[in-house]
Amino acid sequence: MKNIDAFFQKNFLWGASTSAFQVEGAAYSHGKGVSVADIRTKKKNDVQMDTTVSVDHYNHLEEDVQLMVDLGLKAYRFSINWTRVLPNGDLSKINDEGVQFYHRLLDLLIKNNIEPIVTMFHFDFPYALVEKYDGWVSKNAIEDFYAYASFLIKEFGGKVRYWLTINEQNVMVGQPEILGIEDENKTELYRKSQIANINMCVAQAKVFKLVREKYPDLKIGPAVSYITALPENGESQNVLLAKTVEDMFSFSLMDISLRGNLPKSLMNVLEEAGIENYISDEEKSILKEGTANYLAVNWYCTTTFKLKGSFDPKTPQLENLEIVKNPNLDYTKWNWSFDPIGLRYAMQQLNDRYPNVEIIITECGWSEEETLEDGQVHDSKRVSYLKEHIKQLGLSIYDGVNIIGFCPWSFIDLLSVNDGMEKRYGLVYVDRDNFNKKTLNRYRKDSFYYYKEVIKSNGKMILSKDD
Ligand code: BG6
Repeated sequence: MKNIDAFFQKNFLWGASTSAFQVEGAAYSHGKGVSVADIRTKKKNDVQMDTTVSVDHYNHLEEDVQLMVDLGLKAYRFSINWTRVLPNGDLSKINDEGVQFYHRLLDLLIKNNIEPIVTMFHFDFPYALVEKYDGWVSKNAIEDFYAYASFLIKEFGGKVRYWLTINEQNVMVGQPEILGIEDENKTELYRKSQIANINMCVAQAKVFKLVREKYPDLKIGPAVSYITALPENGESQNVLLAKTVEDMFSFSLMDISLRGNLPKSLMNVLEEAGIENYISDEEKSILKEGTANYLAVNWYCTTTFKLKGSFDPKTPQLENLEIVKNPNLDYTKWNWSFDPIGLRYAMQQLNDRYPNVEIIITECGWSEEETLEDGQVHDSKRVSYLKEHIKQLGLSIYDGVNIIGFCPWSFIDLLSVNDGMEKRYGLVYVDRDNFNKKTLNRYRKDSFYYYKEVIKSNGKMILSKDD
């Protein structure tokens, strides 16, 4: 294979990711308002495991950025905690201490030549707005998100070039309690989650439009979870099923964000939920005019689907899908597969559908239960996950996919969305567990040292001439 040196461009964004509520802590202090993520983790978990402390990034800011510098990061993807900046969720109150916290972080990153990639909303919707008008089920949320996003761009736009509007809208719609939407009636819950889906689409399109019109130097896109679906076997109906899952779950959101239209797969869903007329003509034009100018993709693995009962792709019923283990792949304890070639396949799919769009992988990682041994963590599986996935990423660039950055999940151990501190993803270990805050000291794992070398060689050490 030729031109290995040119696979990863000179200014490739070698990064790492986190999100605010999963690392910051200080959830109920320093002027911050309460978010759905705070409430949700408190309900679910032991008090030590909620967002009150997380991994205490709020009080370890300088130390954590120094670790990023030591790792050689070229980019850091993090999120702004909506209620740290606007405690009530709207512009009725601005928490200056919260605003200054992010200025401090950004200044440190910039000083060290680390490109910030900033998510506006990562699972932490303001709880006050759920109480006030049922959150994303109301069109009021569109205006409040727009006001929040405009505030962020005005305040931090001079320091942040790469913006992400909403993290994994598609995951939140599938798991609506993350948005603060609950209902005992399943049909009603489905209807509400699809209303929220549409409202989020319109809200982010308004922000895309704002950036296109007023801030042409900025990059803005959605962070979409791309569930790459494999059929259980080669039967046509299973292949069709896998394709339908991708269309419904991932491509519908990417189509809206990048092409500005409501794809048929989404229209079918809205019809099924009885809300096909919920979106107004004016909102449809906002979707058309407000499109993203790059794409952030969260990609961990492929998922293999099996058909249960009958399946009509025109009115797909998720109850008729079953996720099964693929006998050809390894899995984490939580059943996420190890499938690097799946990543190359996924990247080709994206490039075929959205030719030449700039892509940053904003999440990609391997989870393990881990303990510290003599100050070290030998996370060999994560090292091999990184090696194999970065290799496939290089090959995807060779295939012609316009990948400009890679940010593994996660820079540091953090609260997993569903499994607390038990499920670790970090390159940096944090000394705490589910039930005990311990010292909160930081330790570099083997994967930290490995990734550091990869960055230093600009990926070349992985792509040998024999591949
Ligand atoms: C993504 C989220 O869905 O997956 C992250 O953007 C999350 O916030 C990650 O942590 C892994 O999921 P989990 O449930 O293992 O934390």
